[in-house]
Amino acid sequence: MSDTEAGNGRRSSLHGFWSSKLAFILAVTGSAVGLGNIWKFPYIAGENGGGAFVLIYLLCVFGVGLPIMMSETMLGRRGRRNPVASMALLGEEEGGGSWWAVIGLSGVIAGFLILSFYSVIAGWVLAYVVKSISGVFVAADAASVKTLFGSLAGDWRETAIWHTVFMIITVVVVARGVERGLEQAVTLMVPALVAILLILLGFSAATGEFEMGVRFMFEPDWSKVSGATVLAAMGQAFFTLSVGMGCVMAYGAYLPQETSIPATATAVVCADTLVAILSGLVIFPIVFANGIDPMAGPGLIFEALPLSFGNMPGGVFFGTLFFLLVGFAALTSAISLMEPAVAWWVERFGATRARASTVIGVIIWALGFLSVFSFNLLSDFKFLNGTFMDNFDYVTSNIMLPLGGLLITIFCGWVMSENSVTDELNIGQSTLYRSWRFLTRFVAPVAVVLVFLNAVGWLDWLLAGAATT
Ligand code: TRP
Repeated sequence: MSDTEAGNGRRSSLHGFWSSKLAFILAVTGSAVGLGNIWKFPYIAGENGGGAFVLIYLLCVFGVGLPIMMSETMLGRRGRRNPVASMALLGEEEGGGSWWAVIGLSGVIAGFLILSFYSVIAGWVLAYVVKSISGVFVAADAASVKTLFGSLAGDWRETAIWHTVFMIITVVVVARGVERGLEQAVTLMVPALVAILLILLGFSAATGEFEMGVRFMFEPDWSKVSGATVLAAMGQAFFTLSVGMGCVMAYGAYLPQETSIPATATAVVCADTLVAILSGLVIFPIVFANGIDPMAGPGLIFEALPLSFGNMPGGVFFGTLFFLLVGFAALTSAISLMEPAVAWWVERFGATRARASTVIGVIIWALGFLSVFSFNLLSDFKFLNGTFMDNFDYVTSNIMLPLGGLLITIFCGWVMSENSVTDELNIGQSTLYRSWRFLTRFVAPVAVVLVFLNAVGWLDWLLAGAATT
């Protein structure tokens, strides 16, 4: 890890560099693959009726998310700073003004909000590691798994303890810094996770309502699609890819100059999609075979998966390993959620990484109690979209991330000079470049705006107006 690794040495990163191209792919994949794929994707797909939601989600992932991931990486590498400072600098350089730093700032805030509830769910995953070892899933039935989950979520002390454990681990890893901390954590996890999902898939195919699960996931019922469904699908696409808040930008800042951005971004997006689809294919056959409600919400995987593990040979071993791996996946995502804020704090106030991550970690941990209480003490306290956790989730995924993404596409597509872009992307005037440019200038921003308008009902109103004039 040395400054000469910055390739042409234009700017060097303050926090070091990834030691290889693979390390970067693994780190961004580690950020992308997490609870969003294994916990959130199945439950959001379930709540939104399956098929049509999944197809819109895939469209958003490849049509909007992938070009934004390329853009974000490119901005990070060109800025070589934390997202706030990178955007301020690039805004000035490209003649747009330093106010573009708002992308970085809103990302820092979104990271706080997301991690505060993410850590609570990740805490449950850790709790399930212990439960799995102790054998409580053995011969489980639909009623017992429901009780088991209910008593964990309903007990704020137990939930809070695991949330605390998860935040401590996250802070320790982030404090250790880019190379030692982040890289090591991802190298084994993703392949291992895919392997165990395949084992689970075999079990679902053999014992679950596999065909019904597949139908549910891929047979679109367009009558169930509303503006809210489309917004949820787009929000999920942003969430699962970690784009729109500067995470990928922060990681891009540590990317050596000669690495191909389109190739790495495509690899990450494919890996992420694979894990999400596999998770859905594992969960829904079990859900339908056991009469679990696909709309069960955040508890869905905590009810469905123990049923598989409890009734398969070697279930204690596989169950423990699985929840351990999901915990790891959550950890590699959590560290990426802290990275923009930590890098910013270190650069802005000259703090050490250890100090910055501790302070930020404590703030996020405290904020997390609102999500801890959302399942027990404050479960009846609902406003706007539901509990505190529901609102944190909704506001970040469905509003802040798409807005951040919109600004990123506008900056890369319309503000940045073509010279800077081609210099950084380094793919010449190829078809690939032209597709990226078209998606970034037109498709992605228009899609985000239309989805917003559609969700608040203005699109119908505008179209109706256009039809009558
Ligand atoms: N993508 C991660 C997941 O699917 C969560 C995550 C990490 C994230 N960094 C992010 C979500 C940045 C939004 C923005 O679990």
